[in-house]
Amino acid sequence: RLTCVIPAGGVGSRLWPLSRANAPKFLLDLTGAGDSLLSATWSRLSPIVPAERIMVVTGNAHRESVLEQLPEILPENLVTESEPKDSSAAIGLAAAILELRDPDAILGSFAADHVIRGDVLFRRAVATAVRAADQGYIATIGIHPSQPSTGFGYISCGEARTDLAPFDLYDVTEFVEKPDAETAEAYLKAGGYLWNAGMFIAKASVLLDQMALAEPEMVDALREMAASWGKKRGAEVRERLWPTLPKIAIDYTVAEPAAAAGKMVCVAAHFEWDDVGDFASVANLLTRGRPSDLAVLGDGAQVLSDASSGIVVSESDRLVALVGMEDVVVVDTADVLLVTTKERAQDVKRLVERMKVSG
Ligand code: GDD
Ligand code: MG
Repeated sequence: RLTCVIPAGGVGSRLWPLSRANAPKFLLDLTGAGDSLLSATWSRLSPIVPAERIMVVTGNAHRESVLEQLPEILPENLVTESEPKDSSAAIGLAAAILELRDPDAILGSFAADHVIRGDVLFRRAVATAVRAADQGYIATIGIHPSQPSTGFGYISCGEARTDLAPFDLYDVTEFVEKPDAETAEAYLKAGGYLWNAGMFIAKASVLLDQMALAEPEMVDALREMAASWGKKRGAEVRERLWPTLPKIAIDYTVAEPAAAAGKMVCVAAHFEWDDVGDFASVANLLTRGRPSDLAVLGDGAQVLSDASSGIVVSESDRLVALVGMEDVVVVDTADVLLVTTKERAQDVKRLVERMKVSG
């Protein structure tokens, strides 16, 4: 009874100038494998459920690219938004549509832009989460943290739930979305915290009822849109209601309050997971964690280098030559050349924000 939902929005601004408004992170190939993060996500889910049970929620502007990358998607399972309203709206609308198709439907939401290695372990984790969802819980998947990152949700795990699954399933006692650096460090020191992998598995109705406690009007609007979905008046209803929705992540409307209310469980993951947030992560993925190597990404990339390390991403036919550079990041696109270091790769986001402000 599981239906998978892939919310695909957000530009991934720390990956600029590779990621752009018209080439968001989920449409990019960041592993050199020849497929985008989105189509890799689809391939990971398709052994679990048939195409009829995979939905994608994305912006109007990306409709064509998504159809091109996912030829198997059913047209009625591609949900598009007129403007981005963050993950509560995207996942909430899919949940409301599903709830009408089947009141007991279980929804599994899987981010469109992560790299996962270990498909069998991934499928096992999802199966455990579905078991918990079937019992009315909101399940998430947790990753053992490697550093006090401030870009993730932190899950505090309590008792093992061996009554629901033989291993890897825990009560969640607290969920904290993107804590500050000091708090994240304290969590790592204390132990017992996992990173939220950005996946939520729950009955569609349970998810919406939980969201309604935080955002009642939003959920009313989502259910109204779902009721007219695919009908003649559907477009009019969406045009009227979508702009009224608050822009808020599901981690705040569902995960934090559900954990506080004892309704959340977490599956501890054993697969490799990376949210490929910036070029340093892309480099690590490509070199499989060997920091002294130089990673190269791009079909026709031409690179001349001595013992330099870091990453070169090339979309141009220029030769990129490096001498004595350590942990350098060079991204050469048709109109922009970015040069930074792996250490500062996160700060690309701030640069992009500054550009937006100054137009
Ligand atoms: N359709 C649609 N529309 N999808 C969206 C929108 C939107 O407006 N905004 C975000 N999404 C999608 C993203 O494409 C991604 O698949 C998912 O929702 C999560 O959104 P992100 O914007 O990537 O969230 P995040 O990375 O800051 O944080 C989330 O993921 C972390 C793991 O990578 C949180 O769930 C954290 O708790 C988690 O640790
Ligand atoms: Mg993300």
